Amino acid sequence: MAQIIDGKKISAEIKEELKAKVAQLKEQGIEGTLAVIQVGNDPASSVYVNNKKRACEFIGIHSKSFELPEETTQEELLKLIDELNNDKSVNGILVQLPVPAHIDEKTIINAISPKKDVDGFHPENVGSLTIGQEGFVSCTPAGIIELLKRSDVEIAGKNCVVVGRSNIVGKPMALLMLRENATVTITHSRTANLKEVCCNADILIVAIGKKEFITGDYIKEGAVVIDVGIHRDENNKLAGDVKYDEAEVKASKITPVPGGVGPMTIAMLMNNCVEAMTR
Ligand code: GUN
Repeated sequence: MAQIIDGKKISAEIKEELKAKVAQLKEQGIEGTLAVIQVGNDPASSVYVNNKKRACEFIGIHSKSFELPEETTQEELLKLIDELNNDKSVNGILVQLPVPAHIDEKTIINAISPKKDVDGFHPENVGSLTIGQEGFVSCTPAGIIELLKRSDVEIAGKNCVVVGRSNIVGKPMALLMLRENATVTITHSRTANLKEVCCNADILIVAIGKKEFITGDYIKEGAVVIDVGIHRDENNKLAGDVKYDEAEVKASKITPVPGGVGPMTIAMLMNNCVEAMTR
């Protein structure tokens, strides 16, 4: 039976460490402020935004909240971002995604100063990650690296298969595992023989966005399985991209849903905010 990788516990540890760091920075007169922008009132986004603001409060940094109406124009949003880019009291800027359909997501991401882009979505930060330069790293993949390291999973030299190639998770995940000296394979919906490829993984990271897609027969005996997915089933119960009951009997270590990868995203966002304060 697999050992559970407890993301809730590890994220709480990280937030405690950050809280101590923020207190030290305060003694040196350094304060942090994260600007959080939400356009419209998508209920799921509101939950995420509130959790982010609460985390700021916990570690001791300020949050500035901008709740804009659904009909906000792209020009109005760009104007606000420009003001925040130039506001010296603001270290981090986050626009909660998705934005309404009449606003172009790429244009918004590109408008945020890379130095304040605590989500790590700006092309300059993605480029820095690609060539191994310092920059902000996307929070979910950065959180997965922390989960692995703090659970004593050796990464160097291991076969890592990433299922999914999104800009936010799959691609940066593959780059981070490469930086940790894993041998990395990126797979996706068009990959031939996906099952065989996955069965070669010592570390299998699944971010495909399909409920319980990865069954036991995709998993090598003793593999470490990281599940990024989060879905609600017909009984309102949360499930991941991995069929947990089948995976836990084959894996050596596994992240549950909920309580695995999910809590790490906000912890790493806070980590990026603290980094923004010290830069
Ligand atoms: N929407 C879903 N995940 C994220 C995230 O990590 N950052 C932002 N800004 N929006 C999101």
